[in-house]
Amino acid sequence: MDASEVVNAQPKVRLRGVEKIFGEGDGATVALEKVDLDIAPASFTTLVGASGCGKSTLLRIIGGLDYQTGGEVIANGHPVTGPGADRAMVFQQYSLFPWLTVMQNIRFSRLLKANRGEWTSAEVEAASGRAEALLNLMGLARNANAYPNQLSGGMQQRVAIARALMPRPPILLMDEPFGALDAQTREVMHDLILHVFNLEKSTIIFVTHDVEEAIYLGQRVVVMAPRPGRIDSVHTVPLPEKRTQDMKLAPEFIRMKRDIVERIRETSGMKTDYDLLEKLSRQASL
Ligand SMILES: Nc1ncnc2c1ncn2[C@@H]1O[C@H](COP(=O)(O)OP(=O)(O)OP(=O)(O)O)[C@@H](O)[C@H]1O
Ligand SMILES: [Mg+2]
Repeated sequence: MDASEVVNAQPKVRLRGVEKIFGEGDGATVALEKVDLDIAPASFTTLVGASGCGKSTLLRIIGGLDYQTGGEVIANGHPVTGPGADRAMVFQQYSLFPWLTVMQNIRFSRLLKANRGEWTSAEVEAASGRAEALLNLMGLARNANAYPNQLSGGMQQRVAIARALMPRPPILLMDEPFGALDAQTREVMHDLILHVFNLEKSTIIFVTHDVEEAIYLGQRVVVMAPRPGRIDSVHTVPLPEKRTQDMKLAPEFIRMKRDIVERIRETSGMKTDYDLLEKLSRQASL
C-alpha cells in the first residue's frame, strides 16, 4: 500500500516530507527521511519497526518536543512549533510526580490553570467531576489518595493515562506505554485503552515494538524501517471496530502479523543466518 495514502480531506495530523538529521558530517544520523503521512480525526494509528527506525523521534516531533530539520508537521490545522495542550504524551517510563497522590497527579493540569487564575470556579468544578470520572474509568477509585510508589506498574501507567486525558487532548501520543508491563496486565490495558478511545474519540498515535499489540489496537499499522528512518508500508487492519482478545487467533490477524514481522525483519537486515549459526556450533563442538 502507498505509504502516503490520504485518509481524510482534513487530517488531524499531516506530515509532509518530514526529515530529521541528528548531528553533522560523518557523524550525522538520518533519523527520519521524507516521511509523508495523514492521520484522520478519531483514528487509532500504531507505529512499529525495528529499534532505531525513528518511531520515538517522529512522535516527539508531532508532540513538539523536538523539531524536524525538514518538511512540514501540521496538527489540528496548525504547524507544530512546540508542545501544546492539544497533544498529550504518555511514555514508557512512569512520569508521575512522586510527591503527589493519584488524584493530585490526575488534577495536575487543572491545578496549574486554577492557580494561574485562568479558570472560573465553575470550570474548576467541572474538571473535578472529570477527574473523578477518569479515576473510575481507570479502576483507580480506591487508590485516589495513594502515592505512586504504592502502586503497581500497571496502576501507575493508568494514572499517567488519566492525567494525559484530563484536559481532553484531541491528540494522544503514546510511546511504548505498556512496554514495561507483564503480558496479562498488557492485555487488560489494551482493552482499557480501546474503551477510552471509543469514549473520548481522541486521535491516538501509538508506538510499540509488539506487532500483535499494534494490530490489536490499531485501525492502521504503519511499519517503519531504519537507516535511514522512513515509512516502509501502511497496513489497514481487517478486523471489526470492536476488538476482542479471541480475534488474535483469526486467520486474517495471523496473516497480517506474519506480513508485518516479515517486513520488519527484511528492512532491519536482522534475518537469522542459520548457515553461520550451524558453522559456529560445529566449530564449538570440535
Ligand atoms: N538526541 C539524539 N541525538 C542523536 N541521535 C539520536 C537522538 N535521538 C535519536 N537519535 C538517533 O535517531 C535514530 C532514531 O531513534 P529513535 O529513538 O527515534 O528510534 P526508535 O524507533 O524509537 O527506537 P526504539 O525502538 O529503540 O525506541 C537512532 O539511530 C538514534 O540513535
Ligand atoms: Mg523509541
